[in-house]
Amino acid sequence: MSANDLAAIARAMVAPGKGILAADESTGTIEKRFQSIDVANTEENRRAYRDMLFSTRGLGDHISGVILYDETLRQKSVTGTPFVEVMSQNGILPGIKVDTGAKDLPLCPGEKITEGLDNLPKRCSEYVKLGAKFAKWRAVIDIGRDMPSSTCIAANAHALARYAAICLEAGLVPIVEPEVLMDGDHSIERCEEVTEWTLNAVYEALYLNRVVLEHTVLKPSMVISGKKCPKQAPVDEVAARTVRVLKRSVPAAVAGIVFLSGGQSDEVATAHLNSMNQQFKGNLPWPLSFSYGRALQQPALKAWRGAAANVAAAQAALAHRAKMNGLASLGRYATALERQG
Ligand code: 13P
Repeated sequence: MSANDLAAIARAMVAPGKGILAADESTGTIEKRFQSIDVANTEENRRAYRDMLFSTRGLGDHISGVILYDETLRQKSVTGTPFVEVMSQNGILPGIKVDTGAKDLPLCPGEKITEGLDNLPKRCSEYVKLGAKFAKWRAVIDIGRDMPSSTCIAANAHALARYAAICLEAGLVPIVEPEVLMDGDHSIERCEEVTEWTLNAVYEALYLNRVVLEHTVLKPSMVISGKKCPKQAPVDEVAARTVRVLKRSVPAAVAGIVFLSGGQSDEVATAHLNSMNQQFKGNLPWPLSFSYGRALQQPALKAWRGAAANVAAAQAALAHRAKMNGLASLGRYATALERQG
């Protein structure tokens, strides 16, 4: 893959009005989602659920790429067409989660380090052969008493940078995802401080590992009040603080920024993204868009409930959220649009 190709893929991932669908739940995580709708976590149900998502008509109008889990990258739609092909027919780029999960960080109680570097070059080459164009690795930073530690930030930044370098060498665009968790009772000020610290460590590590930033996409969390904080910052404040930290920490060369939703409700996640693009229109060095998992899938999951008869309603719910977020990535969303067809 040439440098031009990598840059073109990275730009296509953040094309105007489009964002990314994160559908890369591991078998353990999708189990939790299925439990909420009383559906058994079998391989066939996982396939059927993803089939419903990916065969949504017009999904490519607002979705540039979908992040898949290893099992899904190898699966086929009910018509026998590989999912990868279903996506390319819709103009959607297939991506792959390549980390193997966040594990306990030794000597740092309560903190995590993301693993998966072992054999990563080999796995990436296989994913390229299977049709993947980009990859994802999620690092988790928790805020709490005496947390995060500088050990946790440094270890995770290093792993993200090693992952990104390996992806580029294999021909995959890396999504660099350092998630500062919104669980906890911390203030928005504390979230801003930790997010700035994390992003600075990540970009230093990327530089040291020779990662070409034009060939990367950042997937950060928003600067937001902790879920259990009694004082919840309003939408415009979340947007302003998030953009302030990004401008301080993320080089302009980065191809684009796509947010995770991290447990925000679907409409709130959309409103936050919209506010950023409205407040800072024409004054941002990178496109700001979305790579939501729960905030895109939740209404579709609830509508589906494992029944073939519900597929059309579930697809309509997904198409609606994709459209709302596509508008938010252009700063053209309004809550009134939620209630229109
Ligand atoms: P959420 O939007 O549900 O946080 O998921 C995004 C994601 O890919 C987390 O790694």
